[in-house]
Amino acid sequence: MENVKGKVAFITGGASGMGFGMAKAFCNAGMKVMIGDIEQQPMDRAVAELQKAGAEAACVKVDVSNRDEVFAAAEATIETFGKVHVLCNNAGVLVDGRSEKVDVDNWNWVVDVNLWGVVNGLQAFLPLIRSHGEEGHVVSTSSMAGMVNFRGSGPYNATKFAVVALSETLMEEHKKDNLGVSVLCPGAVNTKIAESGRNRQGQYGGTDDNINAPMAALLPDALDPDIVGRQVLEAILDDQPYIFTDPSLRRHVSERFRRLNEGFDWADNCEALK
Ligand SMILES: NC(=O)c1ccc[n+]([C@@H]2O[C@H](COP(=O)([O-])OP(=O)(O)OC[C@H]3O[C@@H](n4cnc5c(N)ncnc54)[C@H](O)[C@@H]3O)[C@@H](O)[C@H]2O)c1
Repeated sequence: MENVKGKVAFITGGASGMGFGMAKAFCNAGMKVMIGDIEQQPMDRAVAELQKAGAEAACVKVDVSNRDEVFAAAEATIETFGKVHVLCNNAGVLVDGRSEKVDVDNWNWVVDVNLWGVVNGLQAFLPLIRSHGEEGHVVSTSSMAGMVNFRGSGPYNATKFAVVALSETLMEEHKKDNLGVSVLCPGAVNTKIAESGRNRQGQYGGTDDNINAPMAALLPDALDPDIVGRQVLEAILDDQPYIFTDPSLRRHVSERFRRLNEGFDWADNCEALK
């Protein structure tokens, strides 16, 4: 986007962490922000902080895995601000564990929030962003776990690869129009992600107070989410498709591509294809 001043953004998971970082950066740039989150009190506090700083901000309670609630949130955004230009599909939860061991409730939870949450966001908001003819942008939060597969996180990795796939598809589909598309692939960022269980809905087993210890151990040295918020704003203005928060992790992606190339080298000499 060339100009974001006065434009409207809807941010899922905007009550905390990177989503709130995005909300602050967008408001500082003169945008209007609607936060959609499952946690009412942190969301109210976030909006109060933005408003105190002089921003036009509002919120709507939404569970991104619930299609009807996401469509209702889109309606509320239009009722509040008239239009919407930027969608940040950012809400996500961390489920740790090997694919064969994670129970079906947790599998469903992570897929419903991390994948269906993004699909619901696209289906509810993209037609609205396209409807006014002005420029727009979609940012979906994946992870470095959407670029390389970390051990012991099969379900999470699967959802984050899916977010990259959806985003890259959108990039191809909107190459020639005024919709920008980015996928945010953070490394470790100091947020409440290790406490994801605080928001596990009843149908998946309810609140889980356990803190994800391996993730929590990384957080004190991890990046400030406000920096990521500013980086996302810069990426929207630069129309930058891939947003990496930790350039030192490039080597993991290079290593993955090296292994993929080895697969093609093997196929070049494979007896069955001769
Ligand atoms: N923190 C990291 O190191 C890291 C790294 C890579 C990717 N990510 C991704 O970043 C995104 C943002 O997470 P964060 O790190 O800021 O964590 P966070 O827990 O601080 O923020 C996540 C927000 O999403 C909300 N949320 C959770 N479930 C929801 C639901 N069903 N509907 C609506 N809102 C819901 C939470 O209430 C919270 O406000 C997630 O998609 C996460 O997977 C985080």
